[in-house]
Amino acid sequence: MNKIATHSFLILFLAVLSCKSHLPVTSYNPYQYTIQKSFTGSNGAVVSAHPLASKVGVEILKQGGNAVDAAIAVQLVLAVVYPGAGNLGGGGFMIAHLQDGSDIAIDYREKAPGAAHRDMYLDKEGNPVMQLSRRGHLSAGVPGTVAGLFASMKYAALPFEKLVQPAIDLAEYGFVITEAEAGGLNHIRPDLERYNSSKIAFLKPNEWKKGDTLIQADLAETLKRIRDKGQKGFYEGETARLIVAEMKKANGIISEEDLKNYTAKERKPVIFNYKGYTLVSMSLPSSGGIILKQCLKMIEDKSIGKMGFQSANAVQLMVEAERRAYADRAEYMGDADFVRVPVDTLLSDHYIRKRMEDYVPGKAGSSEQTKAGILPKESEETTHLSVADQWGNVVAVTTTLNDGYGSRTVAGGAGFLLNDEMDDFSAKPGVPNMYGALGTEANAIAPGKRMLSSMTPTIVLKDGSPYIVVGTPGGTTIPTSLFQSIVNVIDFNLSAENAVNKPKFHHQWLPDEVFVEEGFPQSVSDSLSSMGYTVTRRSSIGRTELIKIEKSKDGKLVLEAVADKRGDDAAEGY
Ligand code: GLY
Repeated sequence: MNKIATHSFLILFLAVLSCKSHLPVTSYNPYQYTIQKSFTGSNGAVVSAHPLASKVGVEILKQGGNAVDAAIAVQLVLAVVYPGAGNLGGGGFMIAHLQDGSDIAIDYREKAPGAAHRDMYLDKEGNPVMQLSRRGHLSAGVPGTVAGLFASMKYAALPFEKLVQPAIDLAEYGFVITEAEAGGLNHIRPDLERYNSSKIAFLKPNEWKKGDTLIQADLAETLKRIRDKGQKGFYEGETARLIVAEMKKANGIISEEDLKNYTAKERKPVIFNYKGYTLVSMSLPSSGGIILKQCLKMIEDKSIGKMGFQSANAVQLMVEAERRAYADRAEYMGDADFVRVPVDTLLSDHYIRKRMEDYVPGKAGSSEQTKAGILPKESEETTHLSVADQWGNVVAVTTTLNDGYGSRTVAGGAGFLLNDEMDDFSAKPGVPNMYGALGTEANAIAPGKRMLSSMTPTIVLKDGSPYIVVGTPGGTTIPTSLFQSIVNVIDFNLSAENAVNKPKFHHQWLPDEVFVEEGFPQSVSDSLSSMGYTVTRRSSIGRTELIKIEKSKDGKLVLEAVADKRGDDAAEGY
């Protein structure tokens, strides 16, 4: 009776109604939950974009799972409770530092389908048709997330069945949606109606509102197939058949062969030293780790700490570093399995130092001087989670569908949204697209190639032990947000909470503008303008999830987890 009393009445009611033999027993209530923005404790911590996902992560840690187990379970739950960016139909990257000292990078970025070709998004006149790469069936790359989860299982302690069960329950019995989620689903309703001919859980006769229950029966069945058949439960058999059937409805090109052949890859992470700290971040096909190293190394010898947090001089220095790193991104970076990328040079201290030779304090640089392509516009709807356990394992995962709710196309009968990651390729290298943006050959479309990403899951080590676990969504603003969060802690001694929540800025070489978030000090904007910068105010930048790890005097871990104030993000622990 006590056990039953811990469930919400509704869970019991729904379970009985649907005659399910399995009754979920949880310490959280999916029909009534609150959002906790920070947590400090010593046994384990999880920060993610949704409170239910963070709570499930902590449950897994309490059951003896390690940080990798929790990260797997959290991703699966996000695929249910955070359909805007959590996913089965997208891709991502995992960075981990394990108890034994090893650093792991897993790449499960989507791939271009076998039938993809360089000019597939061009019209008869050779102009890019952005709608085609951003919405509907043709915009989807071959999903990587499920393969990534199984590649991560190599480092997990608990069986997959245990890790996937909370996601199955939340899909099957439903959960109550937040105001932000209701708003998101209402906003994309016209697209959902346009790109879906099957009955889908995200559409109902009237508008969504806060407190509505979202039940995803098709998604629950897909998750059960993955539970029962492993990776093949997604990439082969019924789920693969449903994806391909969906493709055939509207000129999509993902084939059964593409799905069967998809593999996640372990990569060598980008590892470097900054002021005595060791940073471990993501390598290509994400540009994130390279940009982060370039930015940090460009400012390392410039005593930024003395300039002061959000002083005009500090912001200017960081903007100039960002300008140079993003020029390199546009010119050189793409999937190194397909194109030659001069990674060693881009990461060499000598090269990076030379890039700052023309930096003039107090005077705006100019992006016109640099000969390189202009960056394509990248979607900012991605999601990040950070996990730390009691044994010293830490995991940072960033995954995405690209745009919010991806291609807006659900694999009919399988219940999950497909990505529109093909838009992260350069639709037409060397020629401006409809936004006047250019990309380069390095990131041109080719069958089986991974599109360039900005996702930057990152771990900072101090004396060899985990110190900061951090990441954020935000498209091209991801590496610059990480750059700021890390400098905020290391150089400006900001608290973890301020490092995450203080207003951020962004420069990406082109357009040659400094973008500042609402709340960014007007006096600093004015100083930047007087140095010659174009300063543009914009909507919020990123949703950073950060865990800072220290040791108390008696040697106990002190895990301080902070969830970004900019969304429903939640920090949990025990
Ligand atoms: N789709 C956003 C990124 O991969 O950076």
